[in-house]
Amino acid sequence: MSTSHDHFDLILRGGTVYDGTGDEPFSADIGVTGDRITALGDLSKATAKEDIDVSGMAVSPGFIDVHSHDDFHVLSSPDVEHNTLQGITTVVVGNCGFGAAPYEVAAGRLGDLFELPEAVKPWDGYAGYLATIDQVKPSLNVAVLIGHNTLRLDAMGDNQEVPPSIDQVTLMAGWVAEGMDAGAVGFSTGLIYEPGRFSMTDEIAAVATVACGYGGVYASHIRNEGGGLLEAVEEAIIVGEMSGCSVQISHHKASGSENWGRIEQSLELIEAARQRGLDVTADQYPYTSGSTRLAAVLQNRALTDGSGGFGLVKSEDVLIATAPGFPTYEGRSLASFVNEWDLPAEDAGQKILDEAGENVYVVIFMMGEGDVRRVMAHPTTMIGTDGIPAGSKPHPRAWGTYPRILGKYVREEGVISLHDAIHKMSGMPADKFQLAGRGVVREGAFADLVVFDPDTVIDTATYEDPKTPPTGMPHVIVNGSVVVRDGVHTHARTGRALRRGRE
Ligand code: ZN
Ligand code: CU
Repeated sequence: MSTSHDHFDLILRGGTVYDGTGDEPFSADIGVTGDRITALGDLSKATAKEDIDVSGMAVSPGFIDVHSHDDFHVLSSPDVEHNTLQGITTVVVGNCGFGAAPYEVAAGRLGDLFELPEAVKPWDGYAGYLATIDQVKPSLNVAVLIGHNTLRLDAMGDNQEVPPSIDQVTLMAGWVAEGMDAGAVGFSTGLIYEPGRFSMTDEIAAVATVACGYGGVYASHIRNEGGGLLEAVEEAIIVGEMSGCSVQISHHKASGSENWGRIEQSLELIEAARQRGLDVTADQYPYTSGSTRLAAVLQNRALTDGSGGFGLVKSEDVLIATAPGFPTYEGRSLASFVNEWDLPAEDAGQKILDEAGENVYVVIFMMGEGDVRRVMAHPTTMIGTDGIPAGSKPHPRAWGTYPRILGKYVREEGVISLHDAIHKMSGMPADKFQLAGRGVVREGAFADLVVFDPDTVIDTATYEDPKTPPTGMPHVIVNGSVVVRDGVHTHARTGRALRRGRE
């Protein structure tokens, strides 16, 4: 019960609490002491060092971005504004098979996009990565998945287009054990990317089994989101069955207009697996466009015959998001290069890669709005941004995912209720990824909180101007400290490395 005469470090007064469990909201003041919620109820007689009037506002657990690529960004820009300003208080990094260790391989990929300050030294394994997070202290909490592509590059070097030897599988398994011992929350694959696309199901299951022995999640950017969507979802489920892992289908979608509607059947596959007792869930960002590496688009023949994992993609539906060293390319459609250079789309894409290097990212319009809504409304879907905030025109999801769901899909279109949306953003991800003491508003839980106005909250980030914060989301609190106040970052850096199942 409320401890009405107490003195707190922080009180949020008069808000409507969405507690993250999916239950209906209730009115309560929230008292915070140190990094914890220590009272919930009528605190009108209590005092606090810091008092914030949140009447008329919704208060919910801080959002848990289950699909982040900010492994390096949380260290290079520790305020992590694109996340914190949209209410994210925890990121799960290491998605799509790209992990933070071994350092040399990870830096080869992400280090070009997010340059680390000199004070940040190369880390040793996942234990070293998590220790580095605790040292740098970003403004939000960080949990980590172990990325398969990164391990495979390390274990197999330049010879990737073959199955690994037993020794190489053992090497990868050793890294997974190191990561899970350190507190990683699971293992991820990116089977549309190189080298992951060269790996067979048995290799993946063998390595995943190590993570599952610790109770980790298997999160997969599946092999095909186009014409082969259903077989690819089945493969992820088979890996779950072979390894014993709980499964997360990353950014669940049907790509390519010829495949729209197939999402009905992939949701049925998930439901059927759940009925057999397997814990299969998915995540989603709320847009009809995706964003990925241009190299992967070409490797999957998306611009020529659509035989790979994207389905067929037209050059006018591809925007250059990030082209290191070529900022004038950013924001332009691939079709504009096709015209200017008088080249087929595939060759124009290759020319951009030759000029700007392999870290070119694109935005691709590939999904149907009906599918986006169906996935969002499904009870097995939680929310993640998949944001890659590099270059001048990154996908707006990096800034707008959470307010867009709360404004567009909850308030304006009624696709899901507000309490369901909050559950998909907090309690549900905390359970899935074993983030102990997070994702709920209750006495004793960590004080990771977001205050927003349900009547006005909305994203403002667009394809033309993608780096803009939301409106209607004034306050964000991480481990009891106010990190965003009145929509402005306070530069408080109270985030932590989160280790699986540990408070
Ligand atoms: Zn992905
Ligand atoms: Cu991703």
